[in-house]
Parts: sequence; structure tokens; C-alpha cells
Amino acid sequence: MDTHAPRRIILDTDPGIDDALAILLALASPELSLEAITVTGGNCSLAQGVDNALRVLALAHATHVPVLAGLETPLIRPPLTAPETHGDTGLGYARLEPSPQVAGSRHAVDLLIEQIMAAPGEMTLVAVAPLTNVALAIRREPRIVKAVREVIIMGGALLHQGNTTPVAEFNTYVDPHAAHIVYHSGMPITLAPLDVTYQCVLTQRDVSRLLALNSPIAQFIADATRFYMEFHDDYQGIQGCVINDPLALALTFAPELVTTRPLYVTVDLSSELGMGQTIGDFYNAWQHSPNLRVALQVRARAFIDLFVTRMEALIRSMNAAIS
Ligand code: BDR
Ligand code: CA
Repeated sequence: MDTHAPRRIILDTDPGIDDALAILLALASPELSLEAITVTGGNCSLAQGVDNALRVLALAHATHVPVLAGLETPLIRPPLTAPETHGDTGLGYARLEPSPQVAGSRHAVDLLIEQIMAAPGEMTLVAVAPLTNVALAIRREPRIVKAVREVIIMGGALLHQGNTTPVAEFNTYVDPHAAHIVYHSGMPITLAPLDVTYQCVLTQRDVSRLLALNSPIAQFIADATRFYMEFHDDYQGIQGCVINDPLALALTFAPELVTTRPLYVTVDLSSELGMGQTIGDFYNAWQHSPNLRVALQVRARAFIDLFVTRMEALIRSMNAAIS
């Protein structure tokens, strides 16, 4: 493996406003090679999420990145979407042009397995959606557990309240059975839970910095996050919006943004009241070995500045290419 080559990543996602920002951050990061986007139902339906991914790639002139549809519904529970958080289309008030690119004809789970197994130790998986696709890939080809280089997951809430039930975070709540399979799979997982993502608030002032550059990408970010900010204000009293998924993506090349610790974490499947809660055994009461590295502290402003600076660079490079 060439240690200077960009790190190869696959993004498993349910786009989604912050998912769309994670796609843009991947494209704006020279340390990364975005090899594919795999989609699952979550924030919006599977078909809508695939279409959103295609449109965001087209916006960024990146239609070479394959987009593949995966599972529409969670393994066991009924689907749950989040139009109050992400809007009816999943992208807030943004209205993007249709893409000339079509989704790949293969199943996302097949692609995940094939790409990971084709280059053992090379592929990093960034999973920022309900873990349905990843769990099914593990069940279908258990050898991916050892073949994947690293898995970075946005999900869970350890010492933080939930954002979907009082105890459960959205991705974990939507498919808790999949999360349970993945967390206990033995994959080398770093978890970015709400404990860290809820410190990372993108503000109107940050968005204004981008709007000053006058570009379709800046306008997209402004239109999408305006809806997202209204949600955060109305439902959670937060001024600005929490950009969960881009933080997970950034940990592929800037792990120093967070402080992690090994921890035994499991997912509650036992009752409706606690469904999807991520329980961390901080005092080692159960005497299990840690199964995850969990991010519990974050240099939040450094991350937001990194995000905005990279969006500025992406916009400038695109403006330069078309002038
Ligand atoms: C997670 O759920 C979705 O709403 C976001 O896209 C993020 O992946 C946060 O709980
Ligand atoms: Ca997401």
C-alpha cells in the first residue's frame, strides 16, 4: 500500500442534509479518494437518497463517483424517515438540478463486499446512516470484518441524550439490530456519537463566509442548512445546525479533532422504551473487552473552521475551472 496515496473510502449514507455536506467534504479533501457512495433508507426513502447523492455529485462536478442503492428498510423494524429534520426531499430548501449520472445497477451490499475484499487492509468505510447495508454485508461475507482498514461510524449517544427518543440517536434507533451486529462484529470501529457531533454547530456566520464566494455550492449549502437551522431552533433551541456526518468523515484524515477511548458499547434491543440506546460500560461492570473506540471530546471550532475552509477551497477550484 502506498502510504502517500489518498486514502480510499466508501461512504455509506442516507442523504440527508449533513450527509450531503459529508459528500462535499470528501470531494474537497485531497487526502481522500471517494471510491463509491452506497445508500440506505433513513433520513428519506432509498430512491430519494440515491437521487440526492447523484444531484450533489453533479453539483460538485463529480459524476465519476459511483452511487449504488442498498437496503430500503431496516433489518427488522419498520422504516422511519426524518422530514422534519431534513425536509420532504431530504435536502431542506435546496432544489438541485437532476444529474445526468444514473445509479449503478449493482446492489450496494455487493459493492461493499467486493471493494473491501479486493484490497484487504486498504478500504476505509465511513458509515453515516442506519447500519442496514453494513450489517447485511457482514452477514453475507464475514471476512470483510478483517479485510476492512477502518470503519468510522456516526451514530449513538453515550453520555448525551438522544435526538430521536430521549435515549436513542437517529441512525441507531432506525436500525438498532443492524447497529448491534456491526458494533459486535469485531471490525476496527471508531464511533462518533452525538456526544461529539452536538458540539459541532455550523452557524449562519459560517454560511455567510461561503455565500460571499457566490457559487452554486455555496447557495446549496445555504438553502439546505437554512431548513436544518430552523429545525434545530424549533426542536432543540440550538442556534445554527449540528453537522454530524461531516465530522465522522473528517476523522479519516484528521483524527486529532477528537479524543477517543476504547469502550464496550452495546445497543438496547430489549424494549420499546430503550430501543436503540447505545449503552457504554464506562466502569467495566460487565467485564467485557472494549469493542469500539469512542470519540468523547472534540475540538469543535477547529472542525467547523476546517469544514468551512475546505468548502471555500472547493468553491474556488470550481469557480477557477469554469472561468
Ligand atoms: C444522524 O441522523 C441523521 O439525521 C443525520 O444524517 C446523522 O447521520 C444524526 O443522528
Ligand atoms: Ca446521515
